[in-house]
Amino acid sequence: MNRPRARIAPSILSADFARLADEIARCDAGGADVIHIDVMDGCFVPNLTFGAKVIETVRRLTALPLDVHLMVVQPEKYFEDFARAGASGLTIHAEVAPHLHRQLYRIKELGCLAGAALNPSTPLEMVSEVAGDLDLLLVMTVNPGFGGQSFIGAMLDKIRRAKAMLEAARSGAALEVDGGVARDTIGDCWRAGADTFVAGNAIFSAHDPVQEIAELRGRCGVSV
Ligand code: DX5
Ligand code: ZN
Repeated sequence: MNRPRARIAPSILSADFARLADEIARCDAGGADVIHIDVMDGCFVPNLTFGAKVIETVRRLTALPLDVHLMVVQPEKYFEDFARAGASGLTIHAEVAPHLHRQLYRIKELGCLAGAALNPSTPLEMVSEVAGDLDLLLVMTVNPGFGGQSFIGAMLDKIRRAKAMLEAARSGAALEVDGGVARDTIGDCWRAGADTFVAGNAIFSAHDPVQEIAELRGRCGVSV
């Protein structure tokens, strides 16, 4: 069966912010499909990053879609600001979304793609009832909070089950993986059924980020 080509989503968490415009230009030149923006609140995860101002800045630097990953409690507090700042998609963690169905539809109402994310220890069942409502399902392959962590191999089976769950729900949602995605892990994730790959350290620490995007994509075959 033919599959659409792998989508590569550089995470600017690992970018050099003193040269942000150049870093984003490299993503464009490398053929990245989307820019991944990690918003952390120091509460849901033990780290603080950025908010609407940075989303707005990146929006002015590229025409690529902005995939905003909210690692925050009470994510709904930020939906309007982030949509206005230019987010294309908002992905919220199921662990802090007791009204996930309503929150997903609020994101869609604001004109953004609606995603749900799961920490490594969170079962897929947390999103099974809304599988048909998702535009994106994010399976975390590290515990969120920091770039440059090691890929958790046990998540490959979860990716396979996530793919089966989306197919059973006839969902067209993207299946994204995030954390430790690099040359040695991306192929396994692709074969397990993931189609969208967040990579921070692998791209921005590479000698040539433009080339690295192609290297990563090259490890994903065109068919299963
Ligand atoms: C982790 C973030 C990731 C992070 C991935 O908490 O959600 O998006 O930037 O970084 P790497 O690719 O370096 O593991
Ligand atoms: Zn992320």
